[in-house]
Amino acid sequence: MSNSLFRTKDVEQSIQDTEEPEHALKKSLSALDLTVFGVGVIIGTGIFVLTGTAAKNTAGPAVALSFVVAGVVCALAALCYAEFASAVPVAGSAYTFSYSSLGEFPAWIIGWDLVLELALGTAVVSVGWSGYIHSLLDNAGWHLPGYLAGRDGAHGFGFDILAAALVLVLTAILVVGMKLSARVTTVVVAIKVAVVLVVIIAGAFFVKGGNYHPFVPQSEPVPAGGNLKAPLIQLMFGWAPSNFGVMGVFTAASVVFFAFIGFDVVATAAEETRNPQRDVPRGILGSLVICTTLYVAVSIVVTGMQKYSKLSVDAPLADAFKSTGHPWFAGLISFGAAVGLTTVCMILLLGQARVFFAMSRDGLLPRFFSHTHPRFRTPYRPTILLGVVIAIVAGFTSLSVLAELVNIGTLFAFVVVAISVIILRNTRPDLPRSFRTPWVPVVPILSVCASLWLMLNLPAETWIRFAIWMAIGFVVYFVYGRTHSRLAERERAAGKTPGPPGATGPGTTGTGGGGRA
Ligand code: ALA
Repeated sequence: MSNSLFRTKDVEQSIQDTEEPEHALKKSLSALDLTVFGVGVIIGTGIFVLTGTAAKNTAGPAVALSFVVAGVVCALAALCYAEFASAVPVAGSAYTFSYSSLGEFPAWIIGWDLVLELALGTAVVSVGWSGYIHSLLDNAGWHLPGYLAGRDGAHGFGFDILAAALVLVLTAILVVGMKLSARVTTVVVAIKVAVVLVVIIAGAFFVKGGNYHPFVPQSEPVPAGGNLKAPLIQLMFGWAPSNFGVMGVFTAASVVFFAFIGFDVVATAAEETRNPQRDVPRGILGSLVICTTLYVAVSIVVTGMQKYSKLSVDAPLADAFKSTGHPWFAGLISFGAAVGLTTVCMILLLGQARVFFAMSRDGLLPRFFSHTHPRFRTPYRPTILLGVVIAIVAGFTSLSVLAELVNIGTLFAFVVVAISVIILRNTRPDLPRSFRTPWVPVVPILSVCASLWLMLNLPAETWIRFAIWMAIGFVVYFVYGRTHSRLAERERAAGKTPGPPGATGPGTTGTGGGGRA
């Protein structure tokens, strides 16, 4: 019985499933499309908003080092993701990879975990986007009533109408089709990268050397109480909770890690790529290298323009220009940030719909969601369902708590992918891999350690929330997924396990969508 928890889906079967016409996605993306998607989703709230919080509260100018640390963690994970994406070029990212290597239950856990990353990530970014739009509207002298602005509505009720509206509009774009969204993304990514380059180049003229001293501010104890807000590692070793200092660089790294989330989403589009074996690794690594370089440059410039203790937490890049007496630049940057966050939302939503689609195609979620649109060939059912749910969450939720949950969920997925690389090398050495992770098992083991290290630097309360979310996932799997899974049906049909009344007979497997909805 416990074997069924670890039944694996053949890699060949995974690829074959995607070729059934009713369940097939259109293959239209190139390496350049993927890189644009990658940059489109990676650069967002992390660099535009969290740089200020991390520098001001935990790392000082050394936040640039935090970006390097987070970038290294992601690069190690990217090397593992790239091998898997090239060996298992089907929709679903870490979920699919682990189904082929670790087994059904770990795959379910990963899929469930990815909801934290992608769906909550979409909600977080849409709320950040709405903040920038509010700031632009304020500049123009227009103000939405508090109860439609979300966070501090009158009479205790607040719904962030702009965040919810953004998610719904993006949902409609994704339902209509990949090609349209790829085109839109390209234009928006160009604007976003241009604005980031403006920050780096124009900001460099306002850097004052004195702002870099001290580069790593001395460690400071945090006020007593609220221990659950301290990084788990500090509680585990009985260290007095503190900010700044060397540990502050790592604490900030676990926060600005959010700025890198999304490169793994490139892998979820593998099935829609013309030549996934070659293009997916290129797309993942290319977008990661571009973004890391830009982040380090932006954080060095911004902490040089303004003393870290004076950086703003809402719009640090724009406000650094205001502090030098150049509000015109601030408006331009706010505009670029608002435009840029749109693509982040869209691609996170796209990735989430793809994972959900893959899980329902495997029967772990209702099959109803695994039918593509007859005309647009998009997974419109999960896209619409998730879009509506995320719009509601985004309307009612604040950023900070969710952002930390997103980080822990993503890092956990990195751990599983790295372990999967080692396992699949042993169980399926024959599988063609156009990209091979170097120095296996050293690189995957380093990736596991690095991801766990950042997880330990997240607050204890984030770990508790994460544990609760995963416990709910366990229940859903044992109540639904385990018996409805397509693999379970195949096993029953092959007579491996006794089937429930009305189970399919031998020879009826492999048709997927015609079965239970
Ligand atoms: N990396 C994305 C951002 O920073 C999720 O918004």
